[in-house]
Amino acid sequence: MLNQSAIIRQFPILQQKINGQALVYLDNGATVQKPQRVIDAIANYYSTTNSNVHRGIHTLSQNATIAMEKAREKVKAYINAKKPKEINFTYGTTDAINLVATGFTSLLQKGDEIIITEIEHHSNIVPWQILAQRTGAEIKYIPLTLEGKLDLDKYKSLLTDKTKMVAVNHVSNALGIVNPVKEIIDLAHEKKAWVLVDGAQAVAQMKVDVQELDVDFYAFSGHKMYGPTGTGILYGKEEILKQMSPYRGGGEMIETVEMKASTYADLPFKFEAGTPNICGNIVLAEAIDFMLDIGMENISGHKKSLVTLAEEKLAELPEVEIYSPNMPKSGAISFNLKLNGVHPSDVGMILDKQGIAVRTGHHCCQPIMARLGILGTVRASFAVYNTAEDVDKLVAGVKKAITFLR
Ligand code: ALA
Repeated sequence: MLNQSAIIRQFPILQQKINGQALVYLDNGATVQKPQRVIDAIANYYSTTNSNVHRGIHTLSQNATIAMEKAREKVKAYINAKKPKEINFTYGTTDAINLVATGFTSLLQKGDEIIITEIEHHSNIVPWQILAQRTGAEIKYIPLTLEGKLDLDKYKSLLTDKTKMVAVNHVSNALGIVNPVKEIIDLAHEKKAWVLVDGAQAVAQMKVDVQELDVDFYAFSGHKMYGPTGTGILYGKEEILKQMSPYRGGGEMIETVEMKASTYADLPFKFEAGTPNICGNIVLAEAIDFMLDIGMENISGHKKSLVTLAEEKLAELPEVEIYSPNMPKSGAISFNLKLNGVHPSDVGMILDKQGIAVRTGHHCCQPIMARLGILGTVRASFAVYNTAEDVDKLVAGVKKAITFLR
């Protein structure tokens, strides 16, 4: 059992009113709010430690370097990577996926195949399209079944000796469903294909163990796990990261630079050109400690129970259509009103007037919206500070929207 009131008290932003109503923040899939200890850690870094990393002989620079490398160790332990050098600091999930897609330019050739799914975020589609255009590789899509889950039989038929990369999300940001990534990884490895998992919606919901998954790349964002925006992680197996070409050129990522050519630094610095988000990376460790102090199993159980409750209550309303109903979900639920001419944003605006923040639209997932024949959905997504009362307010708000829009 979570001590909900103690948790809520740690989030100053939740104490405010929006449109005269107590804020019910259900847009956690887009970004989560930050606990006071994370906010304090940001102020503390700039008050005591601010300096550039890996560059200075002076004490302040060394302190910043030690703190950032400790944070790398913390992330390593959090996802159970083997070595700190497998943890690359990025600026977010999008940046991490672009790093891999760019790095694979030299590893793919014409005729190779990349498999992704219909329910990817644009950040796990467009980088592969760019890679395919550069290399002549082809992209294939795992479809969604009529029940609303990934079609693994179709996936098996898509996998061939030409498959070089499979990229899939762990938890869908658009539908909230949890995908069978372990099975997807094992099947890809039988064909000697690499697998990238977009974990943006998963890392703050569940315990992720990259060694147990045996995943080749795992990408995620700090701001979706109670940390600052502009932070992210790419986990990659050392032997593959070594084969990849660098993503960005610049300071920090080199060993030597000569007029004609350069040699590159060892991992992880090869992929960390320029001054990183030092403060953000350091503070990520505080965000991880926040989650670990509550316990990942507690967080995971809490979010599942809220999603289940929301699904049960919304399903009682005949005007509501839930996407991927009855599928295992984590953290989010997507729905629409079955009323003629009603757009998801109409519902979002009515909810906002009641202080309830949800995301509406295509959620950066246009292909799956097109497949479902809709422009978008209303998405309610939960965090550790949300309560059953928030679900009740959401359902009451949706009922009001039905009355207004009917
Ligand atoms: N990817 C984020 C979302 O799903 C922004 O809202």
